[in-house]
Amino acid sequence: MTPIRHLYVHIPFCLKVCPYCSFYKEKLDRNRMRRFLDALLLELERESARLQPRTIFFGGGTPSALSTPQLEYLLTGLRKRLDLSALGEWTLEMNPATVSLEKARMLHDLGVNRISMGVQSWDPALLAVLGRVHSAAQAERSYDILREAGFDNINLDLMFAVPTQTLAQWEATLEKTIALNPEHISAYCLTYEEDTAFFQRFAAGEYSQSKDWDADLFEATLDRLEAAGYEGYEISNHARPGRECFHNLAYWEGADYLGLGPSAFSTCGPERWQNVADVQAYTARIVAGESAIGFREEVDEATHLAERIAFGLRTNRGVALDLLGPWQAVVDEYLSEGFFICESGRIRLTRKGKLVADTLAEAFV
Ligand SMILES: C[S@@+](CC[C@H](N)C(=O)[O-])C[C@H]1O[C@@H](n2cnc3c(N)ncnc32)[C@H](O)[C@@H]1O
Ligand code: SF4
Repeated sequence: MTPIRHLYVHIPFCLKVCPYCSFYKEKLDRNRMRRFLDALLLELERESARLQPRTIFFGGGTPSALSTPQLEYLLTGLRKRLDLSALGEWTLEMNPATVSLEKARMLHDLGVNRISMGVQSWDPALLAVLGRVHSAAQAERSYDILREAGFDNINLDLMFAVPTQTLAQWEATLEKTIALNPEHISAYCLTYEEDTAFFQRFAAGEYSQSKDWDADLFEATLDRLEAAGYEGYEISNHARPGRECFHNLAYWEGADYLGLGPSAFSTCGPERWQNVADVQAYTARIVAGESAIGFREEVDEATHLAERIAFGLRTNRGVALDLLGPWQAVVDEYLSEGFFICESGRIRLTRKGKLVADTLAEAFV
């Protein structure tokens, strides 16, 4: 049996919950962590026989919200249980308020070789709108600490189309980020996710959204980042050559992956499942020797194909023309309207197409 090559571990804790975020997370209580970490290691142990990861991604939530000893316990435990001989990329997400030199050095020593840090903005007023727990100065100090600890592969997350944000503010955030020279920049357009405080304010008419405004900010993003030598290899992701996130590329290319921890998704062939999104229930089930799966489905071929097309179109590799056979008329239309370009038997989005990627992908569902 071929081993599963990609592992995701969900750490569902944050120092403070941001008002726009719908990832599964809870407010951190470091005193009740040991039971959870033991459950995670137990789940890992059960799955270890079918895992030989090339990429590992610790996401959240905020994995760095754990203390240095807690992270050390978890990572050491993982190293004992897993065959890491094929590992190339190990990413861990951090929040600038939870970075210390001691923690960063320990992570680096234990094999983490890529950090993804949520900066969102360098503008104090926008950090306040976003309810972020850190200042711009703290984010810059944390970035310097990561470099000092030896990390040479760092992603910074940014957000645009934030309420009250101007084009000048966004451009200043891009400039400041470029000046720091991270290997990777993720620039996300704010989504109003249901069950968030931002969504309520949006529904109440206090916040609004405009496709044209989002597109203007997105174009500014491409202009600045391309000029600075970052390749937009996926709609929201920009990297120095060779510094793409290989874990995410594997998702987008439809590879099998295993997700551990509450709310984590896994995909293996046509099977897809998700663990329960509840720390207590997850821990209790794992400790009792039961499965933590809360939902399972078999993805039929048509859905699988539609997903491959939608994800593929978001990347600069695009989609093999053969896959789009049943939609030849749509493809011809998008080519003639300048949304698609066809090169070496693959269809990719043009810049004009990237501005309306989600709408274009709907034609293939
Ligand atoms: C799980 S967080 C990881 C980093 C860490 N928890 C932090 O926020 O510092 C992943 C990223 O998703 C992005 N994000 C979260 N909610 C979003 C939303 N509603 N719209 C757009 N991007 C969002 C943010 O840029 C965030 O840094
Ligand atoms: S954006 Fe990051 S820190 Fe904020 S609530 Fe979401 S996961 Fe937690």
